Amino acid sequence: MDDRDKSGIDGKNQDLERSREAPDGEFLTTNQGVRVADNQNSLKAGERGPTLMEDFILREKITHFDHERIPERVVHARGSGAHGYFQVYDSMADYTTAGFLQDPSTTTPVFVRFSTVAGSRGSLDTARDVRGFATKFYTQEGVFDLVGNNIPVFFIQDAIKFPDVIHAVKPEPRNEIPQAASAHDTFWDFVWLTPECMHMIMWVMSDRAIPRSYRMMEGFGVHSYRFINAKGKSHLVKFHWKPLLGVHSLVWDEAVKLGGQDADFHRRDLWEAIEAGAYPEWEFGVQLIPEEDQLKYAFDPLDPTKIIPEEVIPVRRIGKLTLNRNPDNFFAETEQVAFHVGNVVPGIDLSNDPLLQGRLFSYLDTQLIRLGGPNFHELPINRSVAPVHNNQRDGFMRHTVNTAPTSYQPNSLGGGCPFQAGTTNGGYHTFGERIDAQKIRERSDSFRDHFSQATLFWNSQSQVEQEHIVKALRFELGKVMTPHVRQHVVDLLTNVDLDLARRVAEGIGAEVSSNGRAAADAMKRLEADWDKFGVTSRPGKVRKQAVERSEALSMAHTIKDTARSRKVAILAANGVDGEQLETVKATLTEAEAVPVLVSPLPTVKTSSGKALQTDKLLMTAGSVNFDAVFVPGGKESAAALQADADALHFVSEAFKHCKALAASGEGTEVLLAANIAPPSTSGKTNGHRATNGHSTTSLASLGSVFVEPKAADLKALGKQFVRAIAQHRDFSREETKQAMRVPA
Ligand code: HEM
Repeated sequence: MDDRDKSGIDGKNQDLERSREAPDGEFLTTNQGVRVADNQNSLKAGERGPTLMEDFILREKITHFDHERIPERVVHARGSGAHGYFQVYDSMADYTTAGFLQDPSTTTPVFVRFSTVAGSRGSLDTARDVRGFATKFYTQEGVFDLVGNNIPVFFIQDAIKFPDVIHAVKPEPRNEIPQAASAHDTFWDFVWLTPECMHMIMWVMSDRAIPRSYRMMEGFGVHSYRFINAKGKSHLVKFHWKPLLGVHSLVWDEAVKLGGQDADFHRRDLWEAIEAGAYPEWEFGVQLIPEEDQLKYAFDPLDPTKIIPEEVIPVRRIGKLTLNRNPDNFFAETEQVAFHVGNVVPGIDLSNDPLLQGRLFSYLDTQLIRLGGPNFHELPINRSVAPVHNNQRDGFMRHTVNTAPTSYQPNSLGGGCPFQAGTTNGGYHTFGERIDAQKIRERSDSFRDHFSQATLFWNSQSQVEQEHIVKALRFELGKVMTPHVRQHVVDLLTNVDLDLARRVAEGIGAEVSSNGRAAADAMKRLEADWDKFGVTSRPGKVRKQAVERSEALSMAHTIKDTARSRKVAILAANGVDGEQLETVKATLTEAEAVPVLVSPLPTVKTSSGKALQTDKLLMTAGSVNFDAVFVPGGKESAAALQADADALHFVSEAFKHCKALAASGEGTEVLLAANIAPPSTSGKTNGHRATNGHSTTSLASLGSVFVEPKAADLKALGKQFVRAIAQHRDFSREETKQAMRVPA
């Protein structure tokens, strides 16, 4: 048996073992294994003389360094990855022969890479962007790659437009500005000239494009693929990843600030969660359409700008993905991993989605240049755990030492090996779809409804989510300098939803007709200008969708039952009440949240004299780095924090970002000093009154703000606090404008 034929959860880990290097207890050597006596001085002609060409140690070291960089990915350059495993819940044999989906006792090793799309390799994590969600399954039948995104649709319907959309969103060609941002003229110019973008635009302008964590994003295969069962029956299948922590996002102000505070926010979050044993988990879901039912719906399942609403075909959850191990080496694994939508295994097949068809060419092609030749499948992170035998030979960086006397097939001199498997021995068999057609360079009419699902998405959002979309569009279009581009995007929005268009237009000085024919007027304006610029993919008839709203499209309905792995800042200074701090901390820890002591000082002395090590200095961490804030009492500590502008900003910003806050004892006064209060507070209540007239009683009336001024029942305080953290945010603060009132 081939030594790579390893199975189970640890199969890939064992496979990687033969490539690992560790220097423990070893001498420094050259790449040839020669021990290096002196790594500090080059070989010179005399103490003050020139360096000698002869110094092969110097030259080898510098030459290798000079060649360390490889091209970054042309898209999705910024990313981070992790190892894990996948297990199916029940056999899917009725639908697919794929071996890893047959038996719940089979564990399949995986490597997942998350990414942003537009930015360079060193760009910020929290940019407004689509996130890549690419999964490599190392199955016993070969590698299966599911190369998806955290948004279920795409900008364009045909691969021939991919270079255009990417050139438009990347920094502008004359000055390479802006980095990792779609808020610029060329992107929105492409959008108004490409009306098929509109559904995707709704998603990328929503908070889905600024996730709280990779661990709290959904994933989607986007295209329809095929499942093929043992009888050769085909179902179209859409793939989903559903995070067990729920789907949660940042707010825009927070995302912007995190870009400066911690450009590695998502990378760090993933790394730290796995190191702490809070393994990210997703359920694997499928939506299945029998081959013969493809044309029964108000959308074409081959059109990648459309979803299948979950109310129309529910997502069946068929298994679970767990990420439980960080890579050993970022470059070797996360950078060199090469995903390809053409990496499929028997039982999983492709569809005719014209975007998918183009991708089938693109990935292998780009990796030939990115990884420098045709042998990157041999790199440890990419190599299959199933045996690999074929007659492909040579090329740059070939690792395999092929020992066979022949490298062709059929052969007799090599005993006929390797043999074709045929379908009886598990050979890949393509679904025999009947195709009888004329060659045409055209778009199917069934792809021309560019608005109805954009409207469905808008209608399905909560009030707060809608407001965030409006603000995102105002921000993006506000950065567009060309008036006709701004106006035409609003014209497209007018055909999605009139209220949306009006609200955006108001903020950026664009027009929406008020004569009752706004959508038609907007379309007329667009048509006239589309004619000038040769736009052929015009919108067709809007098709009535089976549902007007879909709960699954709104994050308001997501899982909100756990504070697990949420980071909670405990803000304290010298003289903090250690008992209050420890009691609430214990409740947080019990809920598997992660308490972090934040202080202006490197060490905090409690009121009883105990020294606590600070986890994060206040000057290095804004509250944007945390999910919630607790301020324990202690007279001296509370006074110091009230006198510290950074501490007050920390608290008020957490409130502004709708996060849960708690305070006990004198800590309550820090909240009051940070001006946290309901809009109508007059100070005429019985609670403690701060100098600004607000009172602890008025604090207690705020949602997701919990105070125990007398520190009486800290356990109850902790429990309420944990429940609010699980809710992720209290957006009612935005609805009542409280969050806007607090000076940041
Ligand atoms: C015609 C359309 C598309 C083309 C031509 C295309 C092309 C590419 C290319 C060239 C890369 C870099 C690959 C590498 O260097 O290893 C890439 C990466 C990626 N693409 Fe696409 N792409 C397309 C559409 C999509 C769509 C629709 C999705 C989502 C369903 C997607 C998801 C990804 C992901 C997740 C990565 C990053 C993979 C990684 O982490 O290494 N792409 N794409």
